[in-house]
Amino acid sequence: MPAGFSRLARRTEDPAISWLMHSALARPKLISLAAGFTDNDSLPLEHTRALLNQLLRSRKAGRSALQYGSTQGDPALRRLTARRIERMDGRSGEASTDAERMIITHGSQQMLYMLTEALCDAGDIVLVEDPSYFVYLAILQSHGVQARGIAMEPDGVSIDALRARLELLRRSGDLPRVKLLYVVSYFQNPTGITTSLEKKKAILALLRKYERAAGHPIYLLEDAAYRKLRFAGKDIPSALSVDRRRDRVLYVGTYSKPFATGARVGFGILPEPVFTAVCRIKGNHDFGTSHLLQQLMARALSSGRYDRHLAELRKRYAHKASIMREAIRKHFPLEVQWEMPRGGLYFWARLPSRVSAAPGSRVFETALANDVLYVPGELCYADDPTRPKPVHEMRISFGSASERNIREGIRRLGQVLHQELTH
Ligand SMILES: Cc1ncc(COP(=O)(O)O)c(C=O)c1O
Repeated sequence: MPAGFSRLARRTEDPAISWLMHSALARPKLISLAAGFTDNDSLPLEHTRALLNQLLRSRKAGRSALQYGSTQGDPALRRLTARRIERMDGRSGEASTDAERMIITHGSQQMLYMLTEALCDAGDIVLVEDPSYFVYLAILQSHGVQARGIAMEPDGVSIDALRARLELLRRSGDLPRVKLLYVVSYFQNPTGITTSLEKKKAILALLRKYERAAGHPIYLLEDAAYRKLRFAGKDIPSALSVDRRRDRVLYVGTYSKPFATGARVGFGILPEPVFTAVCRIKGNHDFGTSHLLQQLMARALSSGRYDRHLAELRKRYAHKASIMREAIRKHFPLEVQWEMPRGGLYFWARLPSRVSAAPGSRVFETALANDVLYVPGELCYADDPTRPKPVHEMRISFGSASERNIREGIRRLGQVLHQELTH
């Protein structure tokens, strides 16, 4: 980067995924199992058309939707959203306070960005699941925040690993730099892992324990982006339900995945004083998320169209996931480990640890030569100098690929893996 740019601009790299996208564009026949896009054919075109027509037919509501709204976001959308989360959590009597503590954002991505701006300076530390959502890792990197990975177990981060890490940071005097733990708690991107309620409880208790040495709160940032995309098992209450004083959980959600990614409507429920800090920052960013699209979402929720759409979407993803599972069973070597996800958009496959699936590896290059793309797992690991980045994993998405391409993509990938493992 030439001289004259800020530290932030100089630190900010091309998104990890951008060269993957370039690979896709350079090969028009490529089957991409890499993109985290949602299913294109099931986007709610008819619902959206009907809702916008209804909205714009009314002069009063239409003009209001086309005017600026408030920085915090539309009160009706906040109320409807808070009530739903309260109901899912099995809580009661908290929805109106939650609505008051909610900020509607331009996708949940904006909330993740603003929270990091509000809480972290360059040199601070954020604890993350190991592996984690790579765009969040990029936010940390561009702000000069150090990420430290906490090993994962099938029901969320290892509490022992979290304790050991906090203890290490306490002993080295680095705890005052630790601001939060970031957890993608439902059908995690990239592993598909869901954090159990017991783990959420244990995490909060542990973070609280180390606050005295930190000299400030250590928040749990719960990213529930995939919560609604559950197609098996039961919903698990959010961390809000085990945060007794309701002062340490930053709950972030989105309407992107369950409704329309293009609408870019997300939200966060934040305790004071984080709420005020983020509201001020949002005032400077854009003083409010698109009022029109907030009205669209509020109407989608209150009309029942959102629920009808979501029910269809879950069936569709369940079906696509089962097609991918059957293809993996048929074509992948037995040494490759994977689990059937219960929601979300991803399979996470672990090759034997001697085999690399990293960018530039034989597996990756041969897959590309055969016109199939996945996300190398390595990209989902933070730059954490305390451990080497694993390179033997792959994130494989059934979100945007057609059923035919899922079958064919997995067949090709299976061929590449058989070749490599018998090498
Ligand atoms: C874990 C996770 N969080 C947040 C987001 C951001 O989504 P949006 O900004 O569309 O709400 C994504 C998008 O893929 C994601 O995977």
